[in-house]
Amino acid sequence: MTKPTPTPTEIGHGYDQFADLLDDVWGLNLHHGYWDDLSSSLEEATTKLTDRLSAMLTIRPGARLLDIGCGIGEPAIRLASTHDIEVVGVSISERQIQRANERAAAAGLSDRLSFQYGDAMDLPFPDESFDLVWAMESLHHMPDRWHVISKAAKALKPGGQLAISDFLLVPGAAGAAADAARVHENGGGVLTVVDLEEYLAHLREAGLEPEASEDVSKFTRPSWGKAAERFRALREQALPHIGEAQFEVVLSRFQTFSDESALGYVLLTARKPA
Ligand SMILES: C[S@@+](CC[C@H](N)C(=O)[O-])C[C@H]1O[C@@H](n2cnc3c(N)ncnc32)[C@H](O)[C@@H]1O
Repeated sequence: MTKPTPTPTEIGHGYDQFADLLDDVWGLNLHHGYWDDLSSSLEEATTKLTDRLSAMLTIRPGARLLDIGCGIGEPAIRLASTHDIEVVGVSISERQIQRANERAAAAGLSDRLSFQYGDAMDLPFPDESFDLVWAMESLHHMPDRWHVISKAAKALKPGGQLAISDFLLVPGAAGAAADAARVHENGGGVLTVVDLEEYLAHLREAGLEPEASEDVSKFTRPSWGKAAERFRALREQALPHIGEAQFEVVLSRFQTFSDESALGYVLLTARKPA
């Protein structure tokens, strides 16, 4: 039987439970690493993925960027430390938002960074209010990523750019439908995937012009095995946060996905016509 997709509120509670533990399991960037060098540290590899995505954008001084699914703010802090921009971040996890704002203050960036609780399915921003929209490894959680992308397109000013990092369906012999269903099932319903062609078609439907796309699957895939390794080592620390049953579910998910060839990863940009 197909696993039901959790609601945004359930996803948010899940992240609340993990909000403090994840630092030890994975670090401050709550996304995959880019392992072109397998001896890179976790922090180097995850920061490299942020940098690869930001390098695909034209980031002008004074730009206003919306970060959809901002985690505890590490990518936004990186972006605002390396560019003179303003960032507004949104996450469905209250605890992440609290931590992101504390971390922005500690980095001396509160004048340019702010984080707010909210559901990306219902973004509260006026049309044409951002130069850039950034969604790093968050859209796979959304009940309807095309709805979020169409709202993101509206929030962009003409000429503005959308940057996405997301899981990607790389269909194999079983065929796209079977592969997508298996990934969804093995991901406990929290991971929906589509192939690149479908992705690009939906970006166009939202009124955006796809620009660059980079299939980085082979560089991000080692992240699953590394996550399993670290999570296993933190068993005793994790159990008080999430309990034994949930611990085993998460660990087996990491292990299963490290061998899942249909589960890829893509970096994409698209522009709203000027
Ligand atoms: C894998 S984490 C990525 C976090 C961050 N982008 C990073 O790279 O560190 C996924 C993020 O998406 C957020 N998210 C998931 N569903 C959401 C929704 N419906 N609305 C807003 N944020 C959501 C989660 O709360 C979390 O912050």
